[in-house]
Amino acid sequence: MTAELKTEVEFSKVIRERHSVRKYDPSWKISDEEIKEILGEAILAPSSSNLQPWRFIVITDQELKQQLLPIAYNQQQVVDASVTIAVIGDIEAYRNAEKIYEYAEAAGYVTAEIGAAMAKRSKDGYSAMPVQKLKEIALVDGGLVSMQLMLAAKARGYDTVPMGGFIPDKLRELFSISERYEPVMLISLGKAAAEGRSTARLPLEEVTRWNGFEG
Ligand SMILES: Cc1cc2nc3c(=O)[nH]c(=O)nc-3n(C[C@H](O)[C@H](O)[C@H](O)COP(=O)(O)O)c2cc1C
Repeated sequence: MTAELKTEVEFSKVIRERHSVRKYDPSWKISDEEIKEILGEAILAPSSSNLQPWRFIVITDQELKQQLLPIAYNQQQVVDASVTIAVIGDIEAYRNAEKIYEYAEAAGYVTAEIGAAMAKRSKDGYSAMPVQKLKEIALVDGGLVSMQLMLAAKARGYDTVPMGGFIPDKLRELFSISERYEPVMLISLGKAAAEGRSTARLPLEEVTRWNGFEG
């Protein structure tokens, strides 16, 4: 089942109806095809210099989910949701700059000359940055792609929950994730067995300052 977003009203509904769901129907399985469609929409997210540092570990295997369970502090959704996706960020994403501009060139978005120059600029600039800065970039971009993933899922009628509650070192161990990659979050996705609870937001005026900020 794929639902297309036809109007702004529907998009607004998707945003308003997304809630973190922690109870899933364990018998419901999403197809690999649909997971790919959702991820395909997620990766249209913006990223710093379009370097797309996000990487996804798609976990559908039940045994693997069981192994993930204690790593995620026994959050049952990791096992019951149809799929749990580990979003990780490549802190050496600049290594793909040339490849990305080659795709852009093939698509006719840039000339070979401009693409090569832009790739070089990105590679030179990012490779000179301190690791901490590169991690921050990977986390910011990883957050954007994660949000887009959750909205893409919701638009299709599925629910999600983002999770920062996991032990990064154990996740690294389970999937042999090297230091080059920074775990961003886990996202469980599936069919809700119980609705997510409504959560309050601080009033807009409390979180917004116009034309200045003190604090
Ligand atoms: C980065 C991040 C980490 C989170 N970690 C967890 C988690 O480990 N377990 C969990 O049940 N919910 C987790 N949440 C979900 C939040 O509790 C939830 O988004 C928040 O309460 C607002 O509710 P809503 O998502 O339903 O709007 C996390 C959310 C974010 C953005």
